[in-house]
Amino acid sequence: MNITIPKTSRLHRKEFVFGVATASFQIEGGADSRLESIWDRFCSTPGTIRDGSNGLVACDHYNRWLEDVELIEHLGVDAYRFSLSWPRVIDQNGDLNAVGIAFYVGLLDELNRKGIKPFVTFYHWDLPQHLQDAGGWLNRETAIKFRDYVDLVSKEFGDRVYSYATLNEPFCSAYLGYEVGIHAPGMIGPQYGKKAAHHLLLAHGMAMEVLARNSPNSLNGIVLNFSPCYSHTDAPEDVEAAKLADINLNKWYIEPILNGQYPDLINTLPDDHKPDIQAGDMALISHAIDFVGINYYTREFYQKGTSSGYEKAESPVGQKTDMGWEVFPQGLTDLLESLNKQYELPPVYITENGAAMRDTVENGAVNDADRVAYYQSHLEAVDNAIKQGVDIRGYFAWSLLDNFEWAEGYAKRFGIIHVDYETQKRTIKASGKAFGEFLKQRAA
Ligand code: GCO
Repeated sequence: MNITIPKTSRLHRKEFVFGVATASFQIEGGADSRLESIWDRFCSTPGTIRDGSNGLVACDHYNRWLEDVELIEHLGVDAYRFSLSWPRVIDQNGDLNAVGIAFYVGLLDELNRKGIKPFVTFYHWDLPQHLQDAGGWLNRETAIKFRDYVDLVSKEFGDRVYSYATLNEPFCSAYLGYEVGIHAPGMIGPQYGKKAAHHLLLAHGMAMEVLARNSPNSLNGIVLNFSPCYSHTDAPEDVEAAKLADINLNKWYIEPILNGQYPDLINTLPDDHKPDIQAGDMALISHAIDFVGINYYTREFYQKGTSSGYEKAESPVGQKTDMGWEVFPQGLTDLLESLNKQYELPPVYITENGAAMRDTVENGAVNDADRVAYYQSHLEAVDNAIKQGVDIRGYFAWSLLDNFEWAEGYAKRFGIIHVDYETQKRTIKASGKAFGEFLKQRAA
């Protein structure tokens, strides 16, 4: 089972960055040396996580990080995308936690020693709980706390980091965490989502100003997720529903960042749903970025909804992953071309793409042919978008390791490396081996 891309493709060029991605709460464990995060609190709330699990141990990466970096090197990738645990590096008073900083400096130094580019995300959802107790992303002060966190840590890291992303998927933090409540902190209310989103985007803008000062030589930007919105039927109300979903779930984030303004929809929102915008906010949010990270998994179908004007519909076609997501690589090409037509895009990195599949270990091996096929078809989709003129500079497989899949717990496996959570044994799957072989050809 191989991954094959034509030699003429940009994906074969050394300057195209291939990487693997993870996130702190999903793999680290090491909970006894950091503060509580909103995900610890959410996991301890009955009924929130499908298998009742939590991130206290996860993949025990906090203790096994050297082995994991050796696995990353073995795969032959150019880069490793990971996130910092804010509760690990900043204490209750907003000062640096020396033990937490030392952990990440050790990881960064080892990556640099091995010639693996560190792509660091400051926020992949694990907000310190004490900040949530003060209002979390509904409190504008949290954006200022984030700015100060980025300032202190980026000064500590010096020139060790190849690329910084301020946030991973502000849509998920705001909508899933504050509007529909299926992610931490589990708040529910249409009046919360866009207020939280605004403070997240403000935090991004403030952090970009800091990074321009502290780390002018790293690539600094943000990671956004997109699920292209398709109408469930050709009925006008479903077509309208898909457009409304796209505005609320996708445009709502990229347009303030690239155009400095929210979609016109903002004028139709009830006053108590509107973001609390202050003078200068939109200019800050649209601070120039060196790249935009795009996370893609699948498309979504929408039909006329009851309350919000749109609601998700089952994808009527196609193979599904273990998450029930349709395998639709054309959606990635269409998305990238559409974004490239609509906006003045900075260089693009596909910062997450991958699939949860029902993996089984047989005779010590995981023959995840379905995941290999997923990567093959989605790398072809990236190649097609490049041929259409989209300036894509890199691609990261989600994920290096099977890990804590948020509300799904450990039941869903996205890794190209299998993790036995009883023994913490890592086993490179057929998909990891296929990546390794592809990267070897590239190097030849
Ligand atoms: C996301 C997150 C990852 C998820 C992955 C699979 O994009 O939702 O960045 O943490 O685990 O996407 O859902």
